[in-house]
Amino acid sequence: MKKLRLFLVLLCVFIMCFGTVYPAFAAGADIKLENHPNSLHVDLMSALMQRQSTRSGFTSQKIPVSDLSTILWAANGINRKNNQRTAPTALGKYFIDIYVAANEGVYKYNPAGNLLKWVSASNIKTNIGTQPDIGTASHVLIFVADLRVLPPVMERAAKLDMANGTAGTIAENVYLTAAALKLGTRLVASIKENNIREALQLNKDEVPLYIMPLGYSK
Ligand SMILES: Cc1cc2nc3c(=O)[nH]c(=O)nc-3n(C[C@H](O)[C@H](O)[C@H](O)COP(=O)(O)O)c2cc1C
Repeated sequence: MKKLRLFLVLLCVFIMCFGTVYPAFAAGADIKLENHPNSLHVDLMSALMQRQSTRSGFTSQKIPVSDLSTILWAANGINRKNNQRTAPTALGKYFIDIYVAANEGVYKYNPAGNLLKWVSASNIKTNIGTQPDIGTASHVLIFVADLRVLPPVMERAAKLDMANGTAGTIAENVYLTAAALKLGTRLVASIKENNIREALQLNKDEVPLYIMPLGYSK
């Protein structure tokens, strides 16, 4: 009985010390995201009035996992039966992958599991866009089109048109949710494609399209 009590006390201490931070810092570990809230208590018109691209730079302050979870769900999370998503998509096929670059590494958003799958331990934020403010943002979303998901008969150029249109709808979801959460963001086409390809070990049919730094605006 004494041993059990000691074990429980030690377990509580361990959870209090490491329970909330451990998932975000363990190299090689996936991060379980939080469930999205049913309301942000900001109406759509207010979010539209606040929506803008951050031009003043980003502070280095990290955004909470709850906000990151909400933004990813709004971006392209599952909102209906049959795993259908918050953003519309060309041909009804889900082929835009969202990677998340953080200080502690790179992750891939998995909407069905509501988690971030660990990809690499590298901090690539400073190395993937041409504009220097991107590197200081809390997180950087990377939109990658997986053209292999689209019908093989389609021309590559047509697939890329569909990919850009679909990524645009995802981006607007991010913009509006960031506005509602009082976070800054910007859609950025000026990317270092080869660096992203190398860091994410992409196949030739996985095409980096845009990045979106995310954080607190200066
Ligand atoms: C397809 C697309 C690509 C963009 N690429 C960049 C970019 O590479 N760098 C950048 O600073 N802003 C980029 N932007 C953001 C625009 O510059 C911005 O939306 C525009 O200046 C209007 O400002 P606002 O978003 O604050 O209304 C891009 C926007 C879109 C829609």
